[in-house]
Amino acid sequence: MEGRRKELLILGLLKEARGGYVSGESISQTLGISRTAVWKHIQTLRAEGYPIESSSRRGYRLSSTIQPFNAHEIKGLLATECVGRVIHFQRCVDSTNTMAVVLARDGAEEGTVVVADSQSGGRGRLGRRWYSPEGVNIYTSIIFRPPLPPQDAHKFTFLAGISVAETVERYIPERPALKWPNDILAGGRKLGGILTELSSEADRINFIVVGIGLNVNMDIKGLPEEIRDVATSLKEIAGRDIPRAEVTAGLYYSLEKWYKRFLKDGFQVVLERWKDYFGFEGRRIVVKGREVVEGVCMGVDREGALVVTLPSGLSTRVVAGDLEVAD
Ligand code: BTN
Repeated sequence: MEGRRKELLILGLLKEARGGYVSGESISQTLGISRTAVWKHIQTLRAEGYPIESSSRRGYRLSSTIQPFNAHEIKGLLATECVGRVIHFQRCVDSTNTMAVVLARDGAEEGTVVVADSQSGGRGRLGRRWYSPEGVNIYTSIIFRPPLPPQDAHKFTFLAGISVAETVERYIPERPALKWPNDILAGGRKLGGILTELSSEADRINFIVVGIGLNVNMDIKGLPEEIRDVATSLKEIAGRDIPRAEVTAGLYYSLEKWYKRFLKDGFQVVLERWKDYFGFEGRRIVVKGREVVEGVCMGVDREGALVVTLPSGLSTRVVAGDLEVAD
């Protein structure tokens, strides 16, 4: 713990210098430690992703072009009371959702998050794989313990959708769209996805894990062929690198804000906001779920089920499936 405090002090000194050099001698004097100890702490900071350059004559300097992504950087920008107060940051994990489920089963408190720089087994909906390269995107899972029945669990996908949309629209000129039930799109391409998982008793939720994957600085040209034409990233749209720690802290803020509103004012408030981002009303669609439903999209009902008018003129509700535009 003492070592950690020293590392954060060194980081503070380097940040204060705003890209300028700080000599090893002055760091060792300020902290009252040896030059070798300074060097060891610098090595630890480098391993956490801080791009610290060293010069034998001038000392150490923090390059300002690379924005580090770790728990400390996220915490420094956090303005929440609950979401993200406990952060489990992983350089690589199989799946942040899987890790969050294990933590929740072990009693982790509400608002605990897992966030990773890469995933070796990132999971998407319907058993699909979530492409999770290192150093570019956000992969995070948040634990909620709402005092609600299990049939309300799917509402967290809507809550997460508007939180992601509100967060990302600060970084891109165009308005993101939410595709029922769990996709975040920009320019018709996938920017992010949500995977909500539930543990419950018959009448109450034990916990919900909301997993969010967001393409931030991913270079689309280098992607595997099967997703190259359907995916996008914030960087691709904005034409610049986007600070992941800032986006993550903003996302946690939005999630907490909408979670509180959901508990206080009910789901309709969330759903109304969600409809602002849903751009599929009036379009001819195909929904592939247990059955294939084809017709005109009429929007969503009060529970968030998709309402489709069939060629016969009758309407039907769809509660799960994959929506595709047919025209
Ligand atoms: C989808 O669109 O199919 C949902 C994708 C959800 C991906 C995220 S990345 C963080 C979290 N951990 C996972 O393994 N999956 C979710």
